[in-house]
Amino acid sequence: MSALPDNLRTEILTFDLHHRWFLILFRHLEENVQAERWGFADWACEKVGRYLQVHNGCEEHSMQRFQYDRVDEHKRAHQHFVRRWAGISDDTAKRRLELRDVADFRQSLVEHIGRDDQRYSDYFERSGWLLQANNVLWRDGLALMP
Ligand SMILES: [Fe+2]
Ligand SMILES: [Fe+2]
Repeated sequence: MSALPDNLRTEILTFDLHHRWFLILFRHLEENVQAERWGFADWACEKVGRYLQVHNGCEEHSMQRFQYDRVDEHKRAHQHFVRRWAGISDDTAKRRLELRDVADFRQSLVEHIGRDDQRYSDYFERSGWLLQANNVLWRDGLALMP
């Protein structure tokens, strides 16, 4: 299992774990599409879709709880990813998924983690809530691990 690159670390460990899972699942999907193991590709695709919902929900909940002021903007970015993933899932089900589309999606998500997710992490740090956020999410987030 590869480590999360330093520039993607939010210091909210539950989220860092989630983000790492995304990268692992994308790789799994890409490898299986390449090898035309479509059953495994379906599996990875479904897990990413479900995990997007879980992870986005966790982030949005914690932003609301700790009164982050850019929560609506962040939610819109999440909804965009959910819609795009629905297209990728559809293409996978029809066995016409292009690896380029997964790579583009991954790149956009990595940019979101490196920019938008870092922004709330900085906010938690500045507001002195980083430790509390870690505590809350560790407790609530454990049940949501894949
Ligand atoms: Fe995230
Ligand atoms: Fe996010």
